[in-house]
Amino acid sequence: MKKALITGITGQDGSFLAEFLLHKGYDVHGIIRRSSVDYRERIAHLEGHERFHLHYGDLGDSMSIMQVLSLVRPDEIYNLAAQSHVQVSFDAPEYTANVDATGTLRILESVRLCGLADSCRIYHASTSELYGRVEAVPQDEQTPFHPYSPYAVAKLYGFWIVKEYRDAYGMFCCNGILFNHESERRGETFVTRKITLAAARIKQGKQEKLLLGNLDSLRDWGYAKDYVECMWLMLQQEQPDDYVVATGEQHSVREFCQLAFHEAGIELRFEGEGVHEKGIDVATGKVVIEVSPDFYRPTDVVNLLGNPEKARTKLGWNPQKTPFAELVRLMVKHDMGKVAADDAAARVKVNLEEYLEKGIVK
Ligand code: NAP
Ligand code: GDD
Repeated sequence: MKKALITGITGQDGSFLAEFLLHKGYDVHGIIRRSSVDYRERIAHLEGHERFHLHYGDLGDSMSIMQVLSLVRPDEIYNLAAQSHVQVSFDAPEYTANVDATGTLRILESVRLCGLADSCRIYHASTSELYGRVEAVPQDEQTPFHPYSPYAVAKLYGFWIVKEYRDAYGMFCCNGILFNHESERRGETFVTRKITLAAARIKQGKQEKLLLGNLDSLRDWGYAKDYVECMWLMLQQEQPDDYVVATGEQHSVREFCQLAFHEAGIELRFEGEGVHEKGIDVATGKVVIEVSPDFYRPTDVVNLLGNPEKARTKLGWNPQKTPFAELVRLMVKHDMGKVAADDAAARVKVNLEEYLEKGIVK
């Protein structure tokens, strides 16, 4: 039985990858951070599985990484842990560098120090943000990098240190240059999930308006569940290499809104430009989307489109397994259900409080 260690197992990708590897028969180990609230929503359903194990550790703490590595001695490591929010990296640039850049080095060097350099294969979560202020469209493995945020600069170090350990020590390590991938498990402050949740709340009368930043920004959005398969495929090859993982299709934030609101039952019309642009509910004439400069970034990456040809031909991976429209549909469907369920739970709580107050229940 192969042993895999996943850093960032509580995140969107980590949770899908854990399910995928359990299904493949792996013994799955994950590193989690200690938190005052023990609530691991995305992996709660896996806890208790006989081949699923969690260990405390932190990418900022070499000793904890060494401890877990020497205990588990994994065959494969998937290094997904990161401060992954680009906007947050402008507020916490030093922390982002420590986890996303030096944290990657800590994993690689710990593998060496634990004597696993010859046996352990490593996948590293690199990113399309490396292309940043893009120098060509679409982007592939040959496109020059031009990072354009503290997050991207930190991830650039991660990319090169992975390559360096491959060349210097002959280690089997791969960079997956993943373009944006989303899902019903996406963090709620990333733009797609912010939109699908808002569309569901506005439709159900729980929210008036959605405030967004740059509506013109273009992304190549895929489904996270499909992308974790590609991470695994990279580690099953004869030679380690770096791969772009993308759908090869591009949409704007505005298009994402239009489709998500349509799926929720609201047709949108956009009027105005820049900070004055508004999204209007055609049926009611109400403004449901506004632009707020609070969500503009000091430098923004605005034209990402990946060319997944290498992953398609060399790994046999299907970049269009879940088309864009299907991705938006499944996210909105999920969030329509979640908003309704949250509302029902809140109503039960209110009723109970009222009944207790009136002495109807004791
Ligand atoms: P995510 O949902 O934000 O998950 C990040 C994970 O990293 C969480 O499990 C988090 O743990 C963990 N983490 C953060 N800081 C840590 C630290 N100091 N020590 C240990 N664990 C730490 O991110 P994701 O979307 O799944 O992305 C996974 C990886 O792929 C990230 O490296 C991201 O930068 C990269 N990436 C993502 C995309 C995308 O579109 N999703 C595209 C390209 C690359 P807590 O739960 O404790 O916070
Ligand atoms: N988050 C957010 N919130 N983004 C907004 C908003 C908003 O209200 N309004 C517009 N945007 C724009 C951002 O300016 C950006 O151009 C685009 O929407 C996408 O933003 P995010 O969803 O936050 O994702 P990201 O592309 O910055 O970063 C994600 O993808 C990277 C891969 O390209 C993250 O998952 C990174 O970890 C990942 O490396």
